This record gives sequence, C-alpha cells and structure tokens, in this order.
Amino acid sequence: MTTLAMAADQTNAQGNETALLSPAAPISAKAVAAASEQYAKGKTPGQEVFNRNCAACHADGAKFPGTVALTTRYAGAKPGALEDRKDLTPEMVRYFVRNGISIMPGYRKTQITDKELSDLADYLSKKR
Ligand code: HEC
Repeated sequence: MTTLAMAADQTNAQGNETALLSPAAPISAKAVAAASEQYAKGKTPGQEVFNRNCAACHADGAKFPGTVALTTRYAGAKPGALEDRKDLTPEMVRYFVRNGISIMPGYRKTQITDKELSDLADYLSKKR
C-alpha cells in the first residue's frame, strides 16, 4: 500500500462518511439534519408527543423497558411496541398516561396538557 493510499484510509477511518459513500450515495449533511428534525418533530402532533414523552420506554426494540414489559405480559398475543398495537382506545391511553403503572409515571396536566393527551390518544388508537 502506498503512503498516499494509507493516508486516504486513515481519513476514512476517522469517519469521513461522505468520502466512503460518494459517489454512489452522496448524502448531504443538510439532508441528514432535515431527516433527524423530521423524526424529532413527528409526522403528526400526537407522534411528536409520543416521541418526546413515551418513545424512551415504548419505542420498538429490546432496550425499551415499556416494550419489553408489554412483550412479556402479552407473550405474543399483542405486539410489545405501542405504535404497533391495534387495540388501544383513546380512553386506555388517557388512563395510563394520567395514572401511570409500575415504573411508568403518571403525567400531570403541566407535563402533558389535555390537548397534547388528546393528540397522543388519537395517534396511538388510530388503526395503521
Ligand atoms: C419509564 C418508562 C415509561 C415511560 C416514560 C412511559 N411508559 Fe408506558 N409503560 C411502561 C411500562 C414498564 C409499562 C408496563 C407496565 C406493566 O404492565 O407492568 C407501561 C404500560 C403502558 C400502557 C399499558 C398498555 C397495556 O396494554 O397494558 C400504556 C397504554 C402506556 N404505557 C402508554 C404510555 C404512554 C402514552 C407514554 C408517554 C406519555 C408512556 N407510556 C410512557 C413504561 C413507561
């Protein structure tokens, strides 16, 4: 390997993704920022409330305690991730959010307003 090639490798090892990806898949920093912003924001007001307050425990995956607890509880009868559930009603979502259960805290109106809870309940009870 030439010195020049080694230097180029080193640059890539230091995380120059643009160099690794281009020209087949050029990804601009602006596009990545826009995508992250979209995720944080959510596609609907309800998803945004979910991302901000619930995803840390209820996102899809084995490292989220809410998802793990519900996967165990329903043993395959229902999905563990709330966003995959088809049986949630707005009333259920309201009840658990205001009252909490086990390690899940109850949320006061100063934390999640009635309007936000209504958007959230809509989002989680909508058939997708
Ligand atoms: C600190 C982690 C945590 C956070 C944050 C959290 N939850 Fe939970 N949630 C849990 C756990 C754990 C359970 C399961 C408790 C059990 O059954 O033992 C649960 C249960 C639920 C249930 C009951 C589902 C069922 O079938 O029994 C609903 C609905 C729910 N959460 C909605 C939410 C919503 C909406 C938010 C955001 C406002 C939220 N949770 C935030 C941990 C959390």
